[in-house]
Amino acid sequence: MKILFVNACPRPQSRSRKVAEHFVSLLDGEVTYLDLPSEGLQTLTYDRLCTRDEALKNEDWDHPILKYSRQFAEADRIVIAASYWDLSFPAILKIYVEAINCVGVSFAYDQNDQAYGLCKAKDLIYITTAGGDMSKVDLGYGYIKTLCDEFYGIKETYCIKGERLDLVGEDPDRIVAEMMKDAEALAAKLK
Ligand SMILES: Cc1cc2nc3c(=O)[nH]c(=O)nc-3n(C[C@H](O)[C@H](O)[C@H](O)COP(=O)(O)O)c2cc1C
Repeated sequence: MKILFVNACPRPQSRSRKVAEHFVSLLDGEVTYLDLPSEGLQTLTYDRLCTRDEALKNEDWDHPILKYSRQFAEADRIVIAASYWDLSFPAILKIYVEAINCVGVSFAYDQNDQAYGLCKAKDLIYITTAGGDMSKVDLGYGYIKTLCDEFYGIKETYCIKGERLDLVGEDPDRIVAEMMKDAEALAAKLK
């Protein structure tokens, strides 16, 4: 099984990444680690959009601009670690979404203009921690889950989350320990 482990946690001491590392260590498979903060990802400028459209038109699947999309589409399992920032996640994850959402690679459209998925992954696991309470409208995991449902065709999504880690009176070590247990339970379930 090809496991793609995507880190979208910029802080070196990230608790979300720590839980995700533990989770991934419990899985069987060949792990590819993608550290988004150090990847040097670029946004889709008009020039890059044209380059990508050209590569897709020419079915030039080995073009470097399609690298992340192909890697994502070819993984059997995807694990995303993302800190809860600004009610969702760090901007680097949105830049990654721009890089992987390619018509003809990670999803396509049918004759009725309905998107359908081209991703192989059976499941995606999203791991996040928040300083306070997460918003009622889920703009972090909820967004990624919607992409899985509506674009990628990834049928199962799971979230391991911890809240209130930075609030006075809370015990962040206990919250992380609880998350570790959740990670172990989910890893056992997915075996
Ligand atoms: C730039 C930034 C934005 C943040 N935004 C939020 C937020 O909107 N809501 C919240 O509850 N906590 C917020 N926090 C606190 C983080 O969610 C919290 O510290 C989290 O555990 C960080 O994840 P990490 O340990 O994986 O880095 C923010 C922290 C930073 C540095």
